[in-house]
Amino acid sequence: MKTYNIAVMGGDGTGPEVTAEAVKVLKAAEAKFGFKTDLTDFDFGGERYKRTGETLPDSAVEELRKFDAILLGAIGHPDVKPGILEKGILLKARFDLDQYINLRPVRLFPGVECPLKGKGPKEIDYVVVRENSGDAYTGTGGFTLKGTPNEVAVQSAVYNRFQVDRCLKYAFEYAKKHGKKARGVGAENTLALVGKTNVLTFIYDLWERAFHEMGKKEYPDIRRDYYHVDATCMWMVKSPEWFDVLVTGNLFGDIITDLGAITQGGMGIAAGGNINPKGVSMFEPIGGSAPKYTGMGVINPLAAICAAQMMLETLGEEKAAKKIEDAVKFVTANKMKSMAAGKMGYSTSQVGDLVAEKVAE
Ligand code: IPM
Ligand code: MN
Repeated sequence: MKTYNIAVMGGDGTGPEVTAEAVKVLKAAEAKFGFKTDLTDFDFGGERYKRTGETLPDSAVEELRKFDAILLGAIGHPDVKPGILEKGILLKARFDLDQYINLRPVRLFPGVECPLKGKGPKEIDYVVVRENSGDAYTGTGGFTLKGTPNEVAVQSAVYNRFQVDRCLKYAFEYAKKHGKKARGVGAENTLALVGKTNVLTFIYDLWERAFHEMGKKEYPDIRRDYYHVDATCMWMVKSPEWFDVLVTGNLFGDIITDLGAITQGGMGIAAGGNINPKGVSMFEPIGGSAPKYTGMGVINPLAAICAAQMMLETLGEEKAAKKIEDAVKFVTANKMKSMAAGKMGYSTSQVGDLVAEKVAE
């Protein structure tokens, strides 16, 4: 029987609770679809940092490399200064494991309340391919005259052609396989570059040239669009149905996917994958650790369950992944009152049960 070795990092706050529900659903899928997952828990996060001063040591990265995938809960602790755990654990894993794609579907499931008037699952159905290894995230920069009235801070957005090309390659391939035409819900497969070529005339000039070169030469059947990032925010609210697959740099991708998440029902449902197409990928709910809800059993586990679903899809267990997706849609359409913590009409573990039962059917 095919066995996958999965590292489980529940992390901080409500992370472990939602991850437990994702594991519950994974186990239901295994029983049904004839594969196995071997799970190993890791306790990296705020509590461990407070105890030992350790974030994610190099030795742990080496260990994580041996797994088939990583399932992550959430990182962020109210007692730890912002930046330490994010950089030391989440970004370190992304960078050291070269998870250079952050794949973030923006999909509204049936029955989920959407803040956009007149928009439903048909309109909100696109994917953001966020570059995950470069941009302002690389920490290039620093201070001079720190603490004086003349203090200067610089933080550079950095990209090389190699990073841009490998991200575009992934995005074009994704559009070819999963674009709206490929899925039978549109007339063409479209990849849109989101940039800021009117101001960031170096960085996004590079992206734009690389985008059209690759598209013209290797993907003539994929329609190419371009949007400035500010306008993208506007269209994500006004006409999300225009979008199919979007590709953008790390920082713009971070920002627009929070906007995307709220249009798909909020952080309780939005999931993403940090993907290294040739290595170990890490799947996570894109919301935070929600410390104020820790241990109350009120947090929505669907984002974590959808992260596990994306993990199975990436591992090649497509049937199981599809079954989980359908089960989640059944539960949002027929059971849950809301996606918001404490308002679901069920507890965290009851939502997990509902999905797991549907998967087992
Ligand atoms: C995300 C988060 C992270 C990011 C933070 C926590 C470092 O906002 O995954 O979107 O900026 O990438
Ligand atoms: Mn973010």
